[in-house]
Amino acid sequence: MTTTEPRATGVARILIDEDVIRLRIAEIARELDEEYADSVPLLVGVLNGAITFMTDLMRAMTVPLEVDFMAVSSYGAATQSSGVVRILKDLDQEIEGRRVIVVEDIVDSGLTLQYLLDNLERRNPADIAVVALLKKDKPDAIQVQVDKVGFTIPDEFVIGFGLDYAGKYRNLPYVAVLDPSVYAEN
Ligand code: IMP
Repeated sequence: MTTTEPRATGVARILIDEDVIRLRIAEIARELDEEYADSVPLLVGVLNGAITFMTDLMRAMTVPLEVDFMAVSSYGAATQSSGVVRILKDLDQEIEGRRVIVVEDIVDSGLTLQYLLDNLERRNPADIAVVALLKKDKPDAIQVQVDKVGFTIPDEFVIGFGLDYAGKYRNLPYVAVLDPSVYAEN
């Protein structure tokens, strides 16, 4: 048990501390500031998991930018991707001719991101970059475009910093490994 906070019940161990995440996001923001110095990028956050990363990243960036969100179906209460992706909420604006930065929480099998990229490419943006806070070290994941990764992590189910298990744990300020006994119960 890492802490006695009620929100941390079920946390097996902390994988990435708050401070480490903050520093890495600042580095990514600096790189993006340089790469997008002459444009107004549209940050597309993938709900719900990317909320925390998105709000921290956008505040760490200093170029003028706009934000929009998409929501796609995730695992529900399962811990494996089904590969079936549904758009639950689409963008509010057109992206034709825009420089788009997709902001993802985690790339696991890569299926969700591949679906999203195929979908967004068809709308003729100027270009698309993908920034993911986490990427699982998974040999059988599909090859998908990811331009910047915050952290590569082992192939374990993680929670916190926006990531959920069955809707909970998004408000943990760090990335943690979920105790397998929690999902064994369901
Ligand atoms: P993928 O399609 O397998 O790459 O999974 C993408 C989505 O599944 C992510 O955007 C997350 O919402 C969710 N996901 C994948 N791995 C985890 C995890 O370890 N914890 C929580 N959510 C995850």
